[in-house]
Amino acid sequence: MSKFAIKGGKPLKGTVQISGAKNAALPILAASILTSEPLTLNNVPNLEDINTMISLLESLGKKITKNNSQILIEECQPLDYSAPYDIVSKMRASIAVMGPLLARLGRAHISMPGGCAIGPRPIDLHLKGIEELSATHQTVHGYLDAEAPKGGLIGKEMNLSGKHGSSVLATENIMMAASLAKGKTIINGSAKEPEVIDLANLLNKMGAKISGAGTDCITIEGVDTLHSAEHDIIPDRIETGTFIIAAAITGGEITITHCNPSHLEEPIRLFKQAGIQITSLSDSSISVKSGNAKAVDFTTMPYPLFPTDLQSQFLAYLTLAEGKSIITETIYPDRFMHAAEINRMGSSISVDAGIAIIQGGSSLSGASVMGSDLRGGAALVLAALAADGISEVLRIYHIDRGYENLEIKLRNLGADIQRIIPSS
Ligand code: EPU
Repeated sequence: MSKFAIKGGKPLKGTVQISGAKNAALPILAASILTSEPLTLNNVPNLEDINTMISLLESLGKKITKNNSQILIEECQPLDYSAPYDIVSKMRASIAVMGPLLARLGRAHISMPGGCAIGPRPIDLHLKGIEELSATHQTVHGYLDAEAPKGGLIGKEMNLSGKHGSSVLATENIMMAASLAKGKTIINGSAKEPEVIDLANLLNKMGAKISGAGTDCITIEGVDTLHSAEHDIIPDRIETGTFIIAAAITGGEITITHCNPSHLEEPIRLFKQAGIQITSLSDSSISVKSGNAKAVDFTTMPYPLFPTDLQSQFLAYLTLAEGKSIITETIYPDRFMHAAEINRMGSSISVDAGIAIIQGGSSLSGASVMGSDLRGGAALVLAALAADGISEVLRIYHIDRGYENLEIKLRNLGADIQRIIPSS
């Protein structure tokens, strides 16, 4: 398995360009199932999760042509409705094909996603949504078998908020399904993330009638068919936040381009409170300079509040800050596997029941550490960049799922990071 070797202590300097958002691109790729016509997507990041979604679409019968960050999706044969275990087990976001398959083919046969390293990730809200659209479903031999009524899905008013609030993928799944349902669907308690808006924009370009995306109430007037479209994926707000922290944790000063700072208002407010100097240069670029790291308390919440997907990286930064920081993780209370690994580098973090307490002011020293999920893996890279001496970050396949060319982008900013690929 490949690993990173990182020699810490080099302040990052220079300019980095942000890639397209993984979590926007994944459901948007799944939306191609809703039409037999071609879809052209620009600014698609080159990532393992994107390759997994491409394999899934190919296994369903789509033809995919990649040209750098542009992807053309065409349909040259009848589509299949079966999403197999060997692909779905690699990536939970595969569940995003359920709504489109049900809407277009009237049936979806999908391997049930299991748990993952950040804790239980149920799909009850996805299932509630398709039930509300009059579909039936059962689980047999580890597969979810869902069926629409004979005349197709039927629009309805529903509430999709769960005990942890809204669900991004459930909102997206039902928005896609309802685009081709008979009549009007209203999703109350919908997720408000920018990725939901990006998907709604793409669907509307394909001929859907969706309003309210970005609020907690989305209305979808079903249409009979959707057609071809071209769409640019929004910048990745989590990659942007990760590079802000990379600059700050190394005592560096960088410019970040091709980003959308308006998608990061709350994280930027907290980063500034923690001593990071962030200046807007334009609608799509910012400059970041390290300052005196200060302790900050924060809670992860759905958009527009602080995203769980930046919790691990910010935690790594706060180990250096003077004073005690308290992090409350409300989305995935078990998402703290990185804390014990960073403690191996000399920090003092205790975790109990979804709350991490960080006694700051540590100086980190290089060590061998192991990533167990995408964002936790990124946090270990950040800690290693700040640490004294050499670190090895193992299991970087998690990082490859969601960061395009991370080590190349960091190296261009002056980091000493190498990918070590074992000789077979
Ligand atoms: N939830 C339910 N029932 C459901 C679905 C979700 O209770 O049917 C709960 C979850 O247990 C969790 C909360 O709702 O507490 C949020 O889960 P959500 O469904 O929003 O997660 P998701 O849509 O599966 C997306 C991102 C995640 C990100 C979360 C939260 C994609 C492809 N994935 O997942 O991204 O953490 O929203 O913002 O959009 C990542 O990129 O590292 C990542 C994990």
